[in-house]
Amino acid sequence: MKLGAFDSVHIAAPCLLEALYRRESPCPQRLEIKPWKAYRDYRDEGYGLLTLEGKDWQRVRSALQKKLMKPREVVKLDSTINEVLEDFMHRIDELCNHNGQMEDVYSEFNKWSFESICLVLYGKRFGLLQEDVEEESLNFIKAVKTMMATFGMMMVTPVELHKGLNTKVWQAHTKAWDDIFKTAKHSIDCWLEKHSANPGEDFLCDLYSGGQLSKKELYAAIAELQIAGVETTANSLLWALYNISRNPRVQQKLFQEINSVLAANEAPSAESLKNMPYLKACLKESMRLTPSVPFTTRTIDTEMVLGNYMLPKGTVLMINSYALGCSEEYFSGWAQFRPKRWFHKSLIQPFSHVPFGLGKRMCIGRRVAELQLHLALCWLIRKYHVVATDTRPVETLHSGILIPSRALPIAFHRR
Ligand code: HEM
Repeated sequence: MKLGAFDSVHIAAPCLLEALYRRESPCPQRLEIKPWKAYRDYRDEGYGLLTLEGKDWQRVRSALQKKLMKPREVVKLDSTINEVLEDFMHRIDELCNHNGQMEDVYSEFNKWSFESICLVLYGKRFGLLQEDVEEESLNFIKAVKTMMATFGMMMVTPVELHKGLNTKVWQAHTKAWDDIFKTAKHSIDCWLEKHSANPGEDFLCDLYSGGQLSKKELYAAIAELQIAGVETTANSLLWALYNISRNPRVQQKLFQEINSVLAANEAPSAESLKNMPYLKACLKESMRLTPSVPFTTRTIDTEMVLGNYMLPKGTVLMINSYALGCSEEYFSGWAQFRPKRWFHKSLIQPFSHVPFGLGKRMCIGRRVAELQLHLALCWLIRKYHVVATDTRPVETLHSGILIPSRALPIAFHRR
């Protein structure tokens, strides 16, 4: 694909992804996010996993991975995630009109996701699901929005130019990161102090006091985890609800599964999710048809032959999971939402479903995100019948992540 001066090679065949995976270098690289790096260098801040490369990336990744990718560690987060979900259910009741519709469903689900990941990472409630949100929390969420809205422009025009000319985009971007780092640092410092007596028992303290990460690295690593974990998760949940709303039979089966596992008023847990294969298949199917992150990238560090193509060093590969999920060759009847297909494992090719990327650089928040989404679906489908309010298709819009082209036509009817 040629986009102005930017050339890339899209891959959407499982065999090629497997070949790439087998030849992966010890520190795979994604396309650089130059505007973020420029900010870090300008303010002498650290780099997190989204921006780091090489040995430094490997070291920070391995420190964080011990907590974030180990199933045994992640399951411990279920009650933390449930705390926010319980509040979110009340919030939905408050916000829905008599038809069960919410005014700004996208931003409300983003607030849930923001609150949830912040409680996981900083051990702090930001109060975004309350009526009167504090100034500091509003500024924080606003700063993340501004940062995301301003970096795209500096990906396609040189960031050095923006910085040199001190353009409005650069100023807004810098101010947004200043606010993000200010809140992140403050929250992390409070947390470290609170747990200083027993550092080994806490995730953040353990990383810092064990000498695995310096404070500067910890600030950047946690801030970037948070940035990566808000919209992706909220958007995935919304797409799942949309797909479920359009498939009443799926919804009924899902509702039955949840009710057969949970007693009345029993909160779902990581343990109870083990008995909900259909719920997991619903999320998988939704992420195939409507993935939040339609592709990830790799910049190859050696010349490589892939399929019948010789790719020079430095080639940017786009791992196009959206195209894979929409392929009749790999998913028969691909346009249909059919969670049951995931029960026929022999019909699904390895490397045909990669919504969290692949290999050593795969999404480090995958397990946390899946736990959040599975629990959220339990709470939502048990309490509400999610109804499609029209039958017109909703297109996907690419804005870094794949978002709905219009307000999602769904309503929440109390069961
Ligand atoms: C990377 C998807 C949630 C943190 C990625 C990548 C994808 C992705 C496709 C690129 C992987 C690759 O290049 O192979 C998603 C989706 C999510 C989600 C679809 C929600 C449904 C989260 C959460 C967190 C997170 C909750 C934080 C707790 C990260 C980080 C990276 C990453 C830090 C960079 C990892 C590295 O380069 O080592 N994510 N993500 N993500 N994600 Fe996620």
